[in-house]
Amino acid sequence: MIKKLRSQAWFLSAVRVLGAATLILFSYVLASSGFDFDDGRFWLLAAVVIASLLGDYVTSVALSLVAVGCLTFFFAPPTFSLRVEQEEDVVALIVFLATSIAITSLAVKVRRISEEELLQTRADLARFARVAMLGELTASIAHELNQPLAGLVSSSNACRRWLSNQPPNIDRANQTLDRIVRDADRATTVLERVRSMANNRPPRKLAVNVREAVAEVILITRGDIERNQITLESNIVDDVILVWADRIQFQQVCLNLIVNGIEALKNVVSSPRTLIIGAERDADNHVTITVADTGAGIDPSSSGKIFDAFFTSKPDGMGMGLAISRSIIEAHGGRLWASANVPRGAKFQFTMPIYCG
Ligand SMILES: Nc1ncnc2c1ncn2[C@@H]1O[C@H](COP(=O)(O)OP(=O)(O)OP(=O)(O)O)[C@@H](O)[C@H]1O
Ligand SMILES: [Mg+2]
Repeated sequence: MIKKLRSQAWFLSAVRVLGAATLILFSYVLASSGFDFDDGRFWLLAAVVIASLLGDYVTSVALSLVAVGCLTFFFAPPTFSLRVEQEEDVVALIVFLATSIAITSLAVKVRRISEEELLQTRADLARFARVAMLGELTASIAHELNQPLAGLVSSSNACRRWLSNQPPNIDRANQTLDRIVRDADRATTVLERVRSMANNRPPRKLAVNVREAVAEVILITRGDIERNQITLESNIVDDVILVWADRIQFQQVCLNLIVNGIEALKNVVSSPRTLIIGAERDADNHVTITVADTGAGIDPSSSGKIFDAFFTSKPDGMGMGLAISRSIIEAHGGRLWASANVPRGAKFQFTMPIYCG
């Protein structure tokens, strides 16, 4: 939050102006309470460091200069004047300025490093969750690969038979070779998709076709959907909705929500298991993507916590899926929220900015 504000010029100006005003007021209060030059130096240094934590290098230098002005005016004899009579006070002021700039600059630097580390940790966590999720989907992925691989074997056998005929049937052999190429392409596509989802690379925003990107995620989860006898209703009728997003991150959010939906539906015994996926354009240049299920719905006692990191109601859950999804969506300028699905189940929706060309 502060990081976002810090990138805005008005916030930095406000910190500088308010910081300077606070230093002056603080000095006045200290001086009128009888604090001397040495106390003033200590307390002003502490105040400058705290104020600098909200700003940048320029703020720390500017506030250090204001603090020197305050020390001169309120504490160095003659007080309430910008004159300094004693030579050692001039030296003390110069030392104060150098110390203050050094400490505040260091504080700004340390803060910047910890912010970068936080971002890196978040990215690592997101990747860890993604890889863990792909691990859970191994059966699904294996199933997806099994079909083209089995096709490859049987087409190769057929091809060999057509070629060993007397005379060899070249036309039929060619047709089976086409099937072999198609199956091999399909297997490669599945593998590339899995590899790109496990990859660690910085976000790259592009125009993403919602229908196509969601279809790829459905492909990865199809084995799980079929095994759990879930009916999938995909209501993405508009096939040219484009959003401005990082494709892999967009798919990760869809994957998290779809996997949560599947997990909620696994426990349903006496009513239909349906997973509904939809996408609609909004009036304000956004697309709303919906993933709804007919499971038991969100437990009312935990509805306020489901987006918290590490909150999970599942014995083997990590509680990271929704927290990561929300941070991805917010970084894209969208919103992610949950509500009850009617007549039963949970509904998760998120918005993403439309790609406007
Ligand atoms: N479709 C849903 N229906 C009901 N409750 C849900 C649904 N999706 C999420 N929840 C609730 O929100 C909690 C947090 O979900 P989240 O995806 O963040 O973590 P998780 O699924 O428990 O673990 P993981 O990190 O492996 O995804 C879940 O444990 C569950 O209680
Ligand atoms: Mg989850």
